[in-house]
Amino acid sequence: MLVSSYKLLQEAKRQGKCIPQFNIINLEWTKAILQEANYQRYPVILGINEKSINYMGGYNTVAQVVKTLIKDLNISIPVVLHLDHSRDGTNPKACLDAIASGFTSVMMDASRFDMKTNIEKTKLIVDKAKEQGVSVEGELGYIGLGKTNNRDIDGYTDYQEAINFIQATGINSFAPAIGNYHGIYRGKLALNYDLLAQLSKKITIPIVIHGGSGISDDDIIKLVKNGASKINFNTELQMAWIKGVRQYLDKHTDIYDAREVILAGKQELRAIVRKKIQILKGN
Ligand code: 13P
Repeated sequence: MLVSSYKLLQEAKRQGKCIPQFNIINLEWTKAILQEANYQRYPVILGINEKSINYMGGYNTVAQVVKTLIKDLNISIPVVLHLDHSRDGTNPKACLDAIASGFTSVMMDASRFDMKTNIEKTKLIVDKAKEQGVSVEGELGYIGLGKTNNRDIDGYTDYQEAINFIQATGINSFAPAIGNYHGIYRGKLALNYDLLAQLSKKITIPIVIHGGSGISDDDIIKLVKNGASKINFNTELQMAWIKGVRQYLDKHTDIYDAREVILAGKQELRAIVRKKIQILKGN
């Protein structure tokens, strides 16, 4: 069942639970994640960024693949289809295309702009999305890429600015920078749990943690205990798939059925999804 993330994440926040977002890039990813989450009886958010949407063929293709897989695979858990990191600099086309195609949640990421512009761009999407019952995630502070990351504490979201941003935009969920970043973590990870806990107590909307790959199981649990209602995972899924395929190809040098190769990656991918869900279920 495709649902908007608003109620799902509100409920998670109320109950101190956390819902995973797993990013999809193709049919196989989508199928593996849906099947594992359904098997675990745990709600799931399928996130996809603009690059992967183009890779799959477009917004309508993605929405139809998700909707029809839910039907054909008899998926009976709540599923959210979410546009991850819409980065439109000058217009809100990505979010609007996603909403028009049937996505149930979008992220307007204008975090690289100044506060005023970020508010304007995000609020515009909130107003449009509300009409369609679609949820909007906003970001304030800078959650960069691991490979380019050299931020210090100045990169953290400012507490008061966060509160102002949430009030001014009317977003449904909020992604702060608390020392998390995308990709592989290098060096010692310094997550600001105090900032997370303070924000979580003060604001009524759910908090989203980006850059879930590479965060240890214990730290995931700590994030949830301190108020994370959603954690995003992407890089670890990619790495798992590649590992599975590489091992399979190394062992089976005369393979000619491509489905077997893809399946080898799918099993590894599903194992990561299973592991993350089991950690979150334990909370
Ligand atoms: P990772 O690639 O670090 O798991 O981050 C995923 C993410 O936050 C997507 O928005």
